[in-house]
Amino acid sequence: MSEHKTGPEDQGESIIVTQELTKIYGRGATRVSALKGANIRVRKGELIAVLGPSGSGKTTLLNMIGALDRPTRGRVFIDGVETSKVPERRLYKIRREKLGFIFQTYYLVPTLNALQNVLIPVLPMRENKRYKRRGERLLELVGLKDRMHHKPGELSGGEQQRVAIARALILNPGVILADEPTGNLDTKTGAEIIDLMQRLNKERGKTFIIVTHDSRIAENAERVFYLMDGRLSDVPPEEN
Ligand SMILES: Nc1ncnc2c1ncn2[C@@H]1O[C@H](COP(=O)(O)OP(=O)(O)O)[C@@H](O)[C@H]1O
Ligand SMILES: [Mg+2]
Repeated sequence: MSEHKTGPEDQGESIIVTQELTKIYGRGATRVSALKGANIRVRKGELIAVLGPSGSGKTTLLNMIGALDRPTRGRVFIDGVETSKVPERRLYKIRREKLGFIFQTYYLVPTLNALQNVLIPVLPMRENKRYKRRGERLLELVGLKDRMHHKPGELSGGEQQRVAIARALILNPGVILADEPTGNLDTKTGAEIIDLMQRLNKERGKTFIIVTHDSRIAENAERVFYLMDGRLSDVPPEEN
């Protein structure tokens, strides 16, 4: 993949870089310009919040950064690799090795218990013993030592999100991408999830990119970006 690397002068210590990232959905009358040339540069170990109202393009931005969808124009680099140029069949490996994902609705499998859910990403790997112990340690780390064999339906929303966070960590990615991780949680539980993400950032050095309309996340972030109608900025919209 060396042909997709950029020189050090381009990258610095940046683990995620986007250049003029643009996404247009549909065409003709249904054409939506969801992202309009977003430039972002995230250094290793940062916790970044992208704040924006519903429909501003937050999920679109995260999906491009996470290589879950292709940009219409522009470039995305993860750890120096231009993912916007990597063929689909090789992208899954980058996603698995470099990225962990957390979503508003957790996406747990209801018939599996907490530990089994955490182990989903390693199912194809058949190194069950080692990962089972790692999964147990991660569930302890997120405060669910006593809930490992509970199914999602037997867990509160905050506990389900903790399971999802442990699952995001199972393959030890450097970057966690979180799409409205507190969106379905009450204020107190949301604050606990924010605390947990900060702890993982500070103590484990995980890089976080969190897109949200929760201004409390922004208060706890090192840097905040603002997304309005597909335009990304590092100053709040009213100061533009
Ligand atoms: N798959 C899609 N097809 C067409 N339009 C879409 C699609 N996904 C999102 N959009 C539109 O793009 C804009 C940004 O959406 P989204 O990124 O989901 O915003 P947010 O996550 O901030 O709520 C919205 O106007 C939305 O309706
Ligand atoms: Mg969204």
